[in-house]
Amino acid sequence: MSAALLAWVDGQLLAAEQATVSVYDRGFRSGEGVFETLRSYGDHVFRLTAHLDRARAGATELGFDAGEVEPLTAAVQATASANLAALGGADSALRLTVSAGTIDPHSLFPGTPGGPPTVVVTSHALRPTPPSATAVTVPLARELPHVKAVSYLVAVTARRRAREQGADEALLTSADGQILEGASSNVFLVYDGGLVTPPLSAGVLAGVTRSVVVTVAERLGIPLAQRVIAGAELLDADEALLTATTREIVPLVAVDDRPIGSGAPGPVTRRLQAGYRDEVAREITGRSR
Ligand SMILES: Cc1ncc(COP(=O)(O)O)c(C=O)c1O
Repeated sequence: MSAALLAWVDGQLLAAEQATVSVYDRGFRSGEGVFETLRSYGDHVFRLTAHLDRARAGATELGFDAGEVEPLTAAVQATASANLAALGGADSALRLTVSAGTIDPHSLFPGTPGGPPTVVVTSHALRPTPPSATAVTVPLARELPHVKAVSYLVAVTARRRAREQGADEALLTSADGQILEGASSNVFLVYDGGLVTPPLSAGVLAGVTRSVVVTVAERLGIPLAQRVIAGAELLDADEALLTATTREIVPLVAVDDRPIGSGAPGPVTRRLQAGYRDEVAREITGRSR
């Protein structure tokens, strides 16, 4: 099936398996690029503008211009639409990668990004989300935590360590033992019916799903505090959950081989999952953006 998928590369839709970028691309050479993983529900790309805003802000932080929202929106939409039939009309995961474009190989390191960025969009079938997840803590923190940079080595390394220990996700911890975020997710804990999540200032990605969960919690009247979480607090939580665009909300039932709460998805997580689905439906029917 994947042979039929198309990829957007700098304004053109090409057969994904044959599509290429330059050997001089700065994303490839030095990790100067940002990416977004987006989710489409049918052909509706959820929170597209929020993802593009984060990508553009990240590019600015890396010192290049990712381009305007409109052409990036068109690129993502065109790819989602072009691959819809090949994916059987199902929900898909899309990846937008925007790098700092190509480098003049004779320029003095690190060179100055000046040319157009490289814009690539791919999409593929969404993997089924597991009903719950386990994690291990990994004492690594991401460089430039607010940027979803293509240089994703901390996340890759942490996730690999988690898998080696039989867990689904890694919970990144700071040098002083704070719980930060998952390798590719944000984390929330539940105490006495209220939610707690680390603030962005702790050094975590401003997850698009995280912000939807903040809205949903408010709508449902679930109290939420954004504060630093010490590692030792983890096992006192009644529930824990991970949030990420493709997986939405996943109950986190054990960390470091110890159960969280009852070791099964809890009632607050269930309410949030239902509320999240409502939020998706609201956006698709045009009641919120
Ligand atoms: C490090 C990190 N934190 C959090 C997230 C969740 O972000 P979002 O909800 O925007 O998918 C991701 C997504 O991949 C991530 O890479």
